[in-house]
Amino acid sequence: MGNDQTLAAMLEQRGVSRRAFLKYASYVASIMALPPASAGALAEGLAKAQRQSVIWLSFQECTGCTESITRSHSPTLENLIFDFISLDYHHTLMAVSGEAAEAARKSAMEANKGKYIVVVDGSIPLGNGGVYSAIAGISNQQMLEETLRDAFAVVAVGTCAAFGGIPKAHPNPTGAVAIGELVGGKPLINISGCPPIPEAMTGALSYVLSFGKLPELDHLGRPKAFFGETIHDRCYRRPFYERGLFADGFDDEGARQGWCLYKLGCKGPVVYNACATLKWNGGVSFPIQSGHPCLGCSEPNFWDQGGFYRPLPTPLGAMGPALAGAAVAGVALGVGAALSARKHQKDYLAATKSGEE
Ligand code: SF4
Ligand code: SF4
Ligand code: F3S
Repeated sequence: MGNDQTLAAMLEQRGVSRRAFLKYASYVASIMALPPASAGALAEGLAKAQRQSVIWLSFQECTGCTESITRSHSPTLENLIFDFISLDYHHTLMAVSGEAAEAARKSAMEANKGKYIVVVDGSIPLGNGGVYSAIAGISNQQMLEETLRDAFAVVAVGTCAAFGGIPKAHPNPTGAVAIGELVGGKPLINISGCPPIPEAMTGALSYVLSFGKLPELDHLGRPKAFFGETIHDRCYRRPFYERGLFADGFDDEGARQGWCLYKLGCKGPVVYNACATLKWNGGVSFPIQSGHPCLGCSEPNFWDQGGFYRPLPTPLGAMGPALAGAAVAGVALGVGAALSARKHQKDYLAATKSGEE
């Protein structure tokens, strides 16, 4: 397929009806919380879009992000959108290796100057001159800087790339840093999560393809559409929280009844991600639905803040002396929770400064 073929032409060739395409555009518009009228503009933009060159660099990572993004379902429009992308370089997925792989990266950069998108998973080790990770004989930092030179934008996929993640955890032996520290002025989208939700990636990419610009981002560079609310804001266990009904153990009566996991260390009240609405594996479930507290995997320093099973250090809102008395306090919590989530997150980050777990 040539790079000048439009998405509409490609979909038609593959037998995807216009109706199905419009349905997909409406779905993307809705998960991105765009006004209903935007679905048409998004569909039009997507239909006219040409094949986007993407260079995907994997640095200090575990391949979980790639696994998440490329997990296979029966063919969906998202798959086709990904087929539509010209994935010109990807360490894990490309067939060629060695010099041929490097040649592919360089020729994609040359052919798409100023237009290609660089997707990165993994952090960059700066310690000891970057000796801890090298590809094709050059350090990760060198490869990133070289590849970014003529890029249109960069997308940091996963918490390792967005915030340093597990490689940056205390004591950070490799001197790992987030991608954002090295991109200079290039437009950057952070899609955090360990790993991130695939729809957050396809949605953000569809937006860039349609409108030729970045979606609205939060103060950490994440698309607000997916990171604008806390897990707690949309959690189906929230009514139990409001009523002060908490599981005290993983196998107690509260756990069996599906009560709130706050006392088991759930970080949902201070974690911004779309798990409670989009869920995982095509909408099947998410950690809290499986009976496990949210670990906060989409937030900076989530590993170091540790205490995965320790309740948040200070209660939300006017919590009073103890969660144990929460039948009364729960009402006050509900009112204060949404308003104080950001403030609470700041207090939480300050109180559990990285590495001191
Ligand atoms: Fe692996 Fe998590 Fe890092 Fe992704 S963010 S590369 S899943 S450790
Ligand atoms: Fe859900 Fe966790 Fe909030 Fe409880 S504390 S309502 S389990 S997000
Ligand atoms: Fe991560 Fe919490 Fe979602 S642990 S996967 S942000 S529920």
